[in-house]
Amino acid sequence: MAAEFTFSVGSSIAVVISGNSTILSENRTFELGFFTADAGSNWYVGIWYSSIPIRTYIWVANRLNSVKNQKSATISLNEDGRMIITDSNQLIVWTTENAERAAEAKLLDTGNLVLLSQTGAIVWQSFDFPADTWLPGMNITRNNKIVCWRSVSDPSPGNYSLRLRSPGFGEFELVHDEETRYWSTGIWTGSSFSGIPEMSVRYLYTFRFSNPFNPSASFTYETLPEFSNTLTRFSVDSFGLLKQYTWSSQTENWNMFWSRPENVCRVYGLCGNLGFCTGGSLRPCECIAGYVPADEQAWRSGGFNGGCRRDDEKSICQGDGDGFEDVGVVNFDGSVDSVVFTGGRSLCEETCLKNCSCVAMKHNEESGMCNIIFGSILNIQNLTSDSTDEIPLYIRVGRDGFNEENKMNGGWRLKMVLIIIAGCVFMALCFVALALVILRMIRNKEKRKKFEEEMTFPVTNLKVFSHKELTAATSGFTEMLGHGGFGAVFRGTLSDASEVAVKRLEHPTVGRDKEFRAELCTIGNIQHVNLVRLRGFCLEDSHRLLVYDYMENGPLSGYLKRDGEVLSWDVRLRIAIGTARGIAYLHEECRDCIVHCDIKPENILLDNGFNPKVSDFGMAKLIGRDFSRVLTTMRGTWGYLAPEWISGVAITAKADVYSYGMTLLEILGGRRNVETPPSVFTSTRIEGASQEDHWFFPPWAARQIVDDKVSDVLDGRLQGAYNPVEARRLALVAVWCIQDNESCRPTMGMVVRMLEGTLEVTVPSPPQLLQALVSGDSFQGVRVVSGQESSLSSGTCSFESNKDTGVSPS
Ligand SMILES: *[C@@H]1O[C@H](CO)[C@@H](O)[C@H](O)[C@H]1NC(C)=O
Ligand SMILES: *[C@@H]1O[C@H](CO)[C@@H](O)[C@H](O)[C@H]1NC(C)=O
Ligand SMILES: *[C@@H]1O[C@H](CO)[C@@H](O)[C@H](O)[C@H]1NC(C)=O
Ligand SMILES: *[C@@H]1O[C@H](CO)[C@@H](O)[C@H](O)[C@H]1NC(C)=O
Ligand SMILES: *[C@@H]1O[C@H](CO)[C@@H](O)[C@H](O)[C@H]1NC(C)=O
Repeated sequence: MAAEFTFSVGSSIAVVISGNSTILSENRTFELGFFTADAGSNWYVGIWYSSIPIRTYIWVANRLNSVKNQKSATISLNEDGRMIITDSNQLIVWTTENAERAAEAKLLDTGNLVLLSQTGAIVWQSFDFPADTWLPGMNITRNNKIVCWRSVSDPSPGNYSLRLRSPGFGEFELVHDEETRYWSTGIWTGSSFSGIPEMSVRYLYTFRFSNPFNPSASFTYETLPEFSNTLTRFSVDSFGLLKQYTWSSQTENWNMFWSRPENVCRVYGLCGNLGFCTGGSLRPCECIAGYVPADEQAWRSGGFNGGCRRDDEKSICQGDGDGFEDVGVVNFDGSVDSVVFTGGRSLCEETCLKNCSCVAMKHNEESGMCNIIFGSILNIQNLTSDSTDEIPLYIRVGRDGFNEENKMNGGWRLKMVLIIIAGCVFMALCFVALALVILRMIRNKEKRKKFEEEMTFPVTNLKVFSHKELTAATSGFTEMLGHGGFGAVFRGTLSDASEVAVKRLEHPTVGRDKEFRAELCTIGNIQHVNLVRLRGFCLEDSHRLLVYDYMENGPLSGYLKRDGEVLSWDVRLRIAIGTARGIAYLHEECRDCIVHCDIKPENILLDNGFNPKVSDFGMAKLIGRDFSRVLTTMRGTWGYLAPEWISGVAITAKADVYSYGMTLLEILGGRRNVETPPSVFTSTRIEGASQEDHWFFPPWAARQIVDDKVSDVLDGRLQGAYNPVEARRLALVAVWCIQDNESCRPTMGMVVRMLEGTLEVTVPSPPQLLQALVSGDSFQGVRVVSGQESSLSSGTCSFESNKDTGVSPS
């Protein structure tokens, strides 16, 4: 069905594309044609990648005027030499505005649709009118901007856009409604933007800013020649996040590894009026009790900007009944008016309730200051703990929204009647229920028998749990131990009194039970003293639960806090070696080599003797090939992930080695590698926008280690109580593990032997990519960005010593 990549004006109107025919770019990278994102209600002309299985639209022509029926709609060049889209009634729904006549249209392999004049000059190009995607080679100037889709199923322009700041022309900003800035890159420093130091690393991209600080400023990026086959893009999603993606042909998926602002709740007005931002990656917004989405349909499809409305909207100000819901110490966007006066709590409440347009109030118990709030309270967010403002916000709610006491105050007589009626109904229902329960017990017994028969496991060490059993074991999933990329983990106690951790997978694996079981089987067979044992699982209806041994001392990450418990040197050494052994086992001794993909302190659990056990192995495979979920649980910063994740080349076990090296640095330093200063939400959030800043420990640490200043890197809280020979060895291994070039990194097996001291460790060179992020020896939390670009050294590396015991790098 796909045609040539050009079409031209014929004698009359040249109809080139209609219905579901498309044209391809020269090398079949991109495809242009009609598409629908909402199952056929609205049709648009767009460009997408033709070479990948996941439909990804990079451009949309008629974003404002969809075509209702694509069958007889067309794209063509008209007599004036303009490109037009006509609907089935031959009405023009979209046209290019080129002044000069085009004789030919061509879809380039860059994704750019160009109109060419008779002489071959470009008279119009789609790159000047981007949709939500910024492709390599596309110039952003003050005349164009990247505007998000309204929702994933609606390509019309949404509220968020990325644009060159004007005036100034020296930085980019994300804005809401063309007006309110909620994130910026920081000022151009000559090689990068001040807020994105990782740009100065010459890896994957080169960036070019022509005429910065000038109205003619134009910014673009290109992929480096060695990555010319990598599909990569930036886009602004409908939640207002600027994201960077690379296509991985290994996982057949887009890997997202960079996203700003890092906290989705920072996106201005994301959850709309009286919407509560929880920060979840799929559904970041909620309505508080007593409120419902203002636009149910939009809310369901991920458009949260409409916010929430009172459930009992009609009864607002219809006499008594309103009360307040304490939403805690929060921050919010939007402009509000407030009236401030001094008075008691009840006067404060009364005053608000008396005025129909009052939506919330704050009352400071200490000073007696009352704040009555009018207007729209947008995108409510939990305030970070270090805020000075400790006064909770009370939102006005209807009868159903607030606590029990208040509810009992009015209309008790009516309630008594209701209670009596309810009582009778209840009795009747009890009889019915009893009958049903008996019936069900009989059926369940049959079902369970059948269910267990289905579970014909070749291994006997995995136990099949019922959902009921696990609900009882975890007391109804109440004690949450943590929340990872795959779901929440709860503490539980089995009937034999053994303690377990129950992981509830939040991933639609329904319908893939067979694969799921096969994977479980693989995981269940893997047993090693440094791997967390999978005891069993529950696979019932839509429930997917995994049951693991419970680890008393929790994840390693809990010990990397400044104010946390300090681990002794011996414990650190044990953790380092044990973790390495666990990973080495996964890589080298299992039947199928398992790449963990997500080695980090959160996934290293400590038992009651502080022995490390690696958890979450096999997960990436278990939940399908969706590595992006793994990636988004990382801190999503360059310099933390192995470079091969970013460039989209195949991921091997060496990616785990990299992450292990990063973790080793954290163990040595007793701190996190990437520390984000506590974000400060203030009412002047524009100033706060550029505060999202990082301090990268690894580049500095690597430099110190290479310069034989290991003691500077070690956790000061150890107060010198460590073995310097072992410390040096661990430190050198860490730097070997984080080499840019994966062939320079040792295998996990070699890491173990190096750590144990049976393989001599030489001094590596500092990793170039990381090193580009800092210059010199400056520390003290001040990040100095080096001016010069650096690139991956392709030089040789030799970590094997000549005193080696005979093993050479693969
Ligand atoms: C266009 O798509 C429809 C529905 O998918 C299909 O029935 C029809 O055969 C297609 N037409 C062409 C020409 O491919
Ligand atoms: C298309 O691919 C060929 C062969 O790989 C290459 O020589 C040519 O430059 C490519 N064309 C474009 C426009 O990328
Ligand atoms: C982008 O700008 C550069 C220089 O300003 C220019 O040479 C190049 O042709 C432009 N590219 C596109 C696709 O417009
Ligand atoms: C906000 O913080 C409160 C108190 O710390 C907590 O109970 C609540 O669950 C938090 N809400 C969200 C959405 O994070
Ligand atoms: C409600 O308060 C607003 C703002 O102070 C005021 O303009 C308005 O007149 C008040 N309405 C009533 C009914 O008191």
